[in-house]
Amino acid sequence: MGTDPWTVYWQGDHLESCIASQSPADSKQIAAYWQDLASQLADASLVLDLASGNGAIPQLLLSVNRTLDICAVDKAEIAPLNYLSQAGELASVRFLPATDICDLPFAPNSFDAVTSQFGLEYAPLTRACQCAVKVLKKHGTIRLLMHHQDSEILRPTTAILSEIARLLAREGVMAGIESYLAERIDFNQLETIGQHYLRVASVRTRQVSGQVFAGITQIAAEVKRNPGHARTLMLNMKKKLVAEQARLLQLQDAALNAEQAHKVEETLTDLGIIIDLFKPLTIDDDEGGKILIGWQLSGIKK
Ligand SMILES: C[S@@+](CC[C@H](N)C(=O)[O-])C[C@H]1O[C@@H](n2cnc3c(N)ncnc32)[C@H](O)[C@@H]1O
Repeated sequence: MGTDPWTVYWQGDHLESCIASQSPADSKQIAAYWQDLASQLADASLVLDLASGNGAIPQLLLSVNRTLDICAVDKAEIAPLNYLSQAGELASVRFLPATDICDLPFAPNSFDAVTSQFGLEYAPLTRACQCAVKVLKKHGTIRLLMHHQDSEILRPTTAILSEIARLLAREGVMAGIESYLAERIDFNQLETIGQHYLRVASVRTRQVSGQVFAGITQIAAEVKRNPGHARTLMLNMKKKLVAEQARLLQLQDAALNAEQAHKVEETLTDLGIIIDLFKPLTIDDDEGGKILIGWQLSGIKK
């Protein structure tokens, strides 16, 4: 398992990475933004998805038009057909792992559409915009959904980062497991560390603390039978926690405030894009409220 945080994440059988809520109604509203683009593209159009991860956007585009010829790039070691238990339509997509969106291996004017969902803003923005526009054909469409600093996706990240930091602290649960496996403490002492954590940690999520505590149960069951395997389980758990910490920090760094989002709009305009849509994307929640998702931007190359 590599240590790039996104590679670790995509290997975990995730189709998506940035979900504001678990409600299928929410995903449907975001999907509409992409499906609308697919419905405008002619059959067999060439599409490039930037920072594609496990291919959430290609999947949505193909759900509307299976004839689209999609290429997807990402800096991470993406391989959705290996990582996803349900890869759906993705067999027809050309995935290029280890490909920086600031150094694209395509000739100028190659694609009818360039898309990116929560991707472009992870790279240096001006350079990423230049590269995206360069490979777009004349009259081609660029469509983006970018992180918004105040979005619902960003809201839980600070709390989860403090949860991870507490687990990884010098006297924390992970250090406790390591000491237990090195026989510096016994299981009762490890339990005391775990109970202390459960008493004092204000944030405990199923996907972080829940996974660690499930891991402890597994390690404890394995330690007598196969100590080497117990140690591997512990090291993998630690690697995943460290990767998740790095991934969430990247996500926070990538999020754009209004001034930064306007700068993207300005840069694209200067590069010859006629912007026809630039505004925050909000979706309706079940209680009649609004959930802020990100910045949507769409335009056509002159
Ligand atoms: C939030 S994920 C988005 C993935 C996908 N578009 C989605 O919506 O599920 C961000 C992705 O950007 C990729 N990334 C970050 N910087 C990049 C760069 N300079 N070039 C290519 N990909 C990059 C990461 O590896 C990660 O897979």
